[in-house]
Amino acid sequence: MTPFISGIPLLDTYLAEGFDSVRGMSSRFSATICGHILRRQTEMGIRGAVAEIGTFEGRFFIAMGHALAPGEHAYGFDIFSWPDDHVLDRFVANAARCGLPSDRFTPRPFDTGKLSVDEFAGLTGRGPLRFIHIDGEHSPEALTHDLALAHDRLHPQGLICLDDMLHPGYPFLVVTVHAYLVAHPEMCVMCVIDREDIVAAPKFLICRRDVVRLYENDLMQSFAAQHFVLGGDAMGHHCVVLTPHPRIADV
Ligand SMILES: C[S@@+](CC[C@H](N)C(=O)[O-])C[C@H]1O[C@@H](n2cnc3c(N)ncnc32)[C@H](O)[C@@H]1O
Repeated sequence: MTPFISGIPLLDTYLAEGFDSVRGMSSRFSATICGHILRRQTEMGIRGAVAEIGTFEGRFFIAMGHALAPGEHAYGFDIFSWPDDHVLDRFVANAARCGLPSDRFTPRPFDTGKLSVDEFAGLTGRGPLRFIHIDGEHSPEALTHDLALAHDRLHPQGLICLDDMLHPGYPFLVVTVHAYLVAHPEMCVMCVIDREDIVAAPKFLICRRDVVRLYENDLMQSFAAQHFVLGGDAMGHHCVVLTPHPRIADV
């Protein structure tokens, strides 16, 4: 059986030895799959910075940072004031402890809800972003705004990754994603990455419809043991579903 790894040695070491030591809410399951995708983007020549909205103390961000290609940079946005004013210190310390060099990333202490598209572009190097993880404020208004920022900066072959979709604590947040997809019919949910736990909830991977083929077969083959073969009905698009224990209910 193919081992469940990203294929990036530095990242796989972090996932095995550092990930759980960084307080946070993203799952190792999703970080492994997203790391694999970042490696595949590099192999396909898809270049650009990566960004996260809602880094908290860096659990998922450090994973993305370890997947950067030479010359690429990671930008981490957070208000860095919840649950106290030392979140930024812990974020920077975690990155150093987990081997992410300080010149590969920049913390951005901003409320993204107050940023214009142009300000966000200026704060992310003005180039296309190949992978954007949205995990900030989970209100419909904030997610609508964060999606607008990400949509504007997304590399044509890049991915927007949305966290906490279908989280029991935010049961109607997907309505906001539905509205975004109706407004942008060129975009679709390419893959759903299932939850590990209530604090490590599912992610949606969104991309342009015309680049789905770059990702979906590879994901189904690379993560065959995690592939829920029935897939998902994502507004008419049959998306890939990856889950830690694929099965259907016994009847
Ligand atoms: C669920 S946590 C993120 C977890 C993190 N991605 C991880 O992998 O562990 C959500 C984060 O979003 C941040 N946040 C909330 N509202 C925000 C806003 N308007 N702008 C930027 N960050 C925000 C919070 O401070 C918090 O650190």
